[in-house]
Amino acid sequence: MTIPATSHASAPAKFILFGEHAVVYGEPALAAPLQSIRAHATISASSAKDPSGLFITADDIYLRCLYGDLMPTHPIAATIRGVLQTIGSSQEPRAHLSLSSAIPVSAGLGSSAATSAAVAQALARFLHRELSANQVSDLVYEVEKLQHGIPSGIDNTVIAHEQTVFFTKTNKTEFLKLTRPLTFLIADSGERSSTKETVAGVRERYKREQKTYQAWFDDIGNITRAARTAVSHGDSELLGKLMLRNQELLEAIGVSCPSLDRLVKAALRAGVSGAKLSGSGAGGHIIAHVHPRQADHVVSRLRAAGARNVFLTELTANTHDS
Ligand code: PMV
Repeated sequence: MTIPATSHASAPAKFILFGEHAVVYGEPALAAPLQSIRAHATISASSAKDPSGLFITADDIYLRCLYGDLMPTHPIAATIRGVLQTIGSSQEPRAHLSLSSAIPVSAGLGSSAATSAAVAQALARFLHRELSANQVSDLVYEVEKLQHGIPSGIDNTVIAHEQTVFFTKTNKTEFLKLTRPLTFLIADSGERSSTKETVAGVRERYKREQKTYQAWFDDIGNITRAARTAVSHGDSELLGKLMLRNQELLEAIGVSCPSLDRLVKAALRAGVSGAKLSGSGAGGHIIAHVHPRQADHVVSRLRAAGARNVFLTELTANTHDS
């Protein structure tokens, strides 16, 4: 087999529009890719003087070592092993894997899933194979399980398919077609949190007050089902109202925090139709639905309220980059 000199793949960040946490309990969630913020993986053939095996460089996470020296549960090791198993190869190539990512870590934007997805496809391509989006999604899900316990599967699904999804754990994923573009601002609280811990905290409280939490999850499910129509039809007013109701319920289940509350309030005071935290919460990002004309004003209000970084994204009829 001729090995190519280099291969490359990238995968986007993601944001959850509706339904985080409730999705773990069987309710639907709605999420979209953030095409402009991506993780990249490049694999180049080693020269004769390089060490044998697959050498990994990921300067963002201070990682420089051979694949064989990583713990088997390390997400990059687990991804490489998953690809080799999927394509029926017994050994890693003698090559150099270089990783970089613009996605903030532990901030609710799917950084770990995007890195796994980029590594998986770059390695498969280096070995003359192209994984389908479903294969990437399944592989990334297995890696995510090592880190997050039992994830719902929304991160790997939206990141592998790079489309706006209406997702449930058990039903077939729906890819939404939008009739009108929708603009969102995504603002970073600067605080970081562990998805695993936040999800475990909700689980503990759910066990103590099952009836109350179940009712809240049911409400979030109904909001997300209504949002599927609002997103598809570009109904900004309804979308905003649903975001606010979803935020109230996320506050009730205890996953918001003062910095997220402050950003949501600042966005609302600046005139947006809706805002909420996005992802597991307890830090990370909020999203605000804006009219493009409002965006500059809302960005400056969010910055004044402490946002470290604010970026704009537009969901269009076709959010897929090839
Ligand atoms: O990884 P995050 O922070 O975007 O959160 C994932 C969303 C949760 O619903 C909180 C967990 C899950 O597995 O779906």
